[in-house]
Amino acid sequence: MSDQFRSLLSRFATGVTVATTADADGKPWGMTASAVTSVSLEPPLLLICVDREAKFHAALHGATGFALNVLAADQKNLSRTFAGSLADPFASADYRIGPDGFPLLAGVVAHIICSRWGTFDAGDHTVFFGEVSGGEIFEGLPLLHYRSKYTTTAMNHN
Ligand SMILES: Cc1cc2nc3c(=O)[nH]c(=O)nc-3n(C[C@H](O)[C@H](O)[C@H](O)COP(=O)(O)O)c2cc1C
Repeated sequence: MSDQFRSLLSRFATGVTVATTADADGKPWGMTASAVTSVSLEPPLLLICVDREAKFHAALHGATGFALNVLAADQKNLSRTFAGSLADPFASADYRIGPDGFPLLAGVVAHIICSRWGTFDAGDHTVFFGEVSGGEIFEGLPLLHYRSKYTTTAMNHN
């Protein structure tokens, strides 16, 4: 099933984010994630599904919230960096720490800031719900992921 599952779900085009957070010591953590969905308007909720085995999972469990950095079309390398096994993916990244303490990457199309609202165990992943408390929008084309490859939109929506 797992090959068929991957192949079926790969036909659902998504955007690509780098989810970031900070642990109790203020250490930044980040992970490339496309399993992100808008959930509710009132309150404003979204969800992100995180593999229990990922280092980011432990960081998120102890955190007050997280930021979603929505990647731009020219940020494939950033997506790869934060999906890899580098000890410190932030070493090569251009970022600042936002007012809530979460790392905010430069050059993205949006920052979405969330406080942790709840979690739900789902198979080998945990669904983390975030209540959106703010964010920022920037111009640019989005990075998309479709059929296991990176792509973008043909149109500029500015
Ligand atoms: C485009 C793309 C989307 C991804 N989306 C998710 C996701 O939504 N949730 C998840 O847990 N892992 C996702 N991953 C995989 C993680 O980024 C990757 O497994 C993780 O960074 C590895 O962490 P580890 O070194 O702690 O195992 C995605 C990877 C890529 C390239």
